[in-house]
Amino acid sequence: MGKITILDLQRMKDERKKITMLTAYDCPTAKILDSCGVDIILVGDSVGNVILGEDNTLPVSVEDMIHHTKAVTRGSKDSLVVIDMPFMSYQISTEDAKRNAGRMIKESGAEAVKLEGGTNMEDTIKAITDIDIPVMAHIGLTPQSVHRMGGYRVQGKEDKQREKLMEDALAVERAGAFSVVLEVIPSKLAREITEKLKIPTIGIGAGVDCDGQVLVINDLLGLSGEFRPKFVKKYVHMEELVSKAVKEYISEVRAETFPGEEHSFQ
Ligand code: KIV
Repeated sequence: MGKITILDLQRMKDERKKITMLTAYDCPTAKILDSCGVDIILVGDSVGNVILGEDNTLPVSVEDMIHHTKAVTRGSKDSLVVIDMPFMSYQISTEDAKRNAGRMIKESGAEAVKLEGGTNMEDTIKAITDIDIPVMAHIGLTPQSVHRMGGYRVQGKEDKQREKLMEDALAVERAGAFSVVLEVIPSKLAREITEKLKIPTIGIGAGVDCDGQVLVINDLLGLSGEFRPKFVKKYVHMEELVSKAVKEYISEVRAETFPGEEHSFQ
């Protein structure tokens, strides 16, 4: 398979083929996802809470994003790599947003940026796409707005919120986004947005009818501790496997059964 482009993603929507997206934050993980054939690797600003031990995504910097994305692009060949624009790297002005998006693409090797927001980000998305940087939008539960939302909760349950989310979706499409993440919204609303939009929708906690799905890799692998929102499916319990291996190593070192002859030099 060759390099996935934003044109391939549009074709997949048109041909009703599901799009797969996962996050990665380092080179070995990116290599695995790429070789498995995942369509999009997202270097999410979830790096803040998932990898760097922060409480939320707000402290993540442009430098953090570039550092992790460089590792991911070194490990990926065919998957499209998308870099998340962190909090306050695109909210101040469209000039600032263009400068940061340009720097992030130039220095990280990613092929597209992602940013959070709907109607409020229409001008920003247009400004960035006008300089030929593809933009993935992100609406619904937008983690950078955690304080405004009063926590991480399902969005779009009431009529007014539903209408607003539909407006957001239409606004990001109008602005030139090549796709949009729908996070933690009712499945029916996600289906309506997906039917209405020409660009692909990628869902997380948004039901099965989106054009594609995304999960945080650590959640899928069972590497995120007690964090277990309803929309996460753990495909493997890595924490248990890693603990077992580490305990075995400790006990073998203490018992002097590791290293053995086969791990030693004469
Ligand atoms: O930062 C992230 O990982 C994300 C995905 C959950 C969509 O934005």
